[in-house]
Amino acid sequence: MNEKVLKPFNQALSGEINIPGDKSISHRAVIFGSLAQGTTKVTHFLDGEDCMRTVNAFREMGVTIQEDGESLVIESNGISALSEPKQPLNFGNSGTTTRLMLGILSGLPFFTTVFGDDSLSRRPMNRVVNPLRQMGANIDGRNSGNLLPLSVKGSKLKCIDYTLPVKSAQVKSAILLAGLLAEGETRVTEQTPTRNHTENMLKAFGADITSDGYTTVITGKNQLKATNVHVPGDISSAAFFLVAGAIVPGSKLRLKNTGLNETRNGIIEVLQKMGANIAIENERTVSGELIGDIQISYHSLKGITIEGEIIPRLIDEIPVIALLASQAEGTTIIKDAEELRVKETDRITAVCDVLNTLGANITPTEDGMVIEGKTKLNGGSISSYDDHRIAMMGAIASLITADDVIIDDISCISISYPDFFKDLKSLK
Ligand code: S3P
Repeated sequence: MNEKVLKPFNQALSGEINIPGDKSISHRAVIFGSLAQGTTKVTHFLDGEDCMRTVNAFREMGVTIQEDGESLVIESNGISALSEPKQPLNFGNSGTTTRLMLGILSGLPFFTTVFGDDSLSRRPMNRVVNPLRQMGANIDGRNSGNLLPLSVKGSKLKCIDYTLPVKSAQVKSAILLAGLLAEGETRVTEQTPTRNHTENMLKAFGADITSDGYTTVITGKNQLKATNVHVPGDISSAAFFLVAGAIVPGSKLRLKNTGLNETRNGIIEVLQKMGANIAIENERTVSGELIGDIQISYHSLKGITIEGEIIPRLIDEIPVIALLASQAEGTTIIKDAEELRVKETDRITAVCDVLNTLGANITPTEDGMVIEGKTKLNGGSISSYDDHRIAMMGAIASLITADDVIIDDISCISISYPDFFKDLKSLK
């Protein structure tokens, strides 16, 4: 246990942060670099624990991956050169590693066992196992293959035409990766668009893939070609400081080189609708992804309703958006976010418990929550639920509490943002 006592701050924050690399894009850069033939250099890579699980999985399969500060150099002889891992693969806390790797391992000619920590071992895998089995995958494990540990005996895969029953980029990506290894044309359709980094990066690595934003079609058996990837700053990490800038009176922050991909930018729309003082500068496209600098300063806020197609575009930001809403005048309603129940923890329960302990007024619902603002936050002892985004949300809350905030265990923050407290300190 790594407890942290945060003294109330209650002063304006100012300064700028170069936002660390995007977690989703870092995973994908390692995956595609390892599947491609040649040398791939990844710059501004996020060396958080989750992404290192993906790196280590490919090292176990014979790929040479060297770390050099914020860069990775991946040397691979392509998909056919990957070899059977000698030991079970430990995916730790990483849902992205697990679900995307299941898509790949299903089509590789060897046997693998994968396992993870307590949180990952509770998360549903049938959302990927079911479509992969329809493609001919041989996957088994606890609860009929729904829960880790799982074993995969690679087989010849056939293509599929699949409509996603859940709003999940991980499921979409697992099927597209299996489709890359399968014979023929695989189609994945989603009713509500989710993050499209897999589609963008597959294109950059030379795959035969097209997408209209709802249906993506990939033709299998294509060898990928190595290319360099620059990883944008993670908007999900920037979100903590966007909210800090919006709720701490007098603050003015600049979050540099942040990813602004339209499938991820829901938090910016929410801040604008709530009346925040936010501006985007220096917009440009790097490695196929839109990035820019975000300027945010304190302003009074009003409650809004957050529902429908925007939910997948801000799903990971909802814990810190709940904190934001607790400082907005009026009612904020979050709906259609039932996916929060199966994240690193049940984030509806965790957010309501943590913020209500600190003095907020939030009522959980089946698929979201109702937040009454604006409330004064007192302080108190909270649990991180061993969930990085809950721990960071608690730390940001302490910037406006009257008393200390004591978080039981902050070690989980290294999953996605190892330098979080260093960056926070730089703004004080
Ligand atoms: C991710 C997709 C989302 C997100 C997760 C990362 C990805 O999960 O919550 O943090 O990299 O594809 P789901 O696909 O389960 O919605």
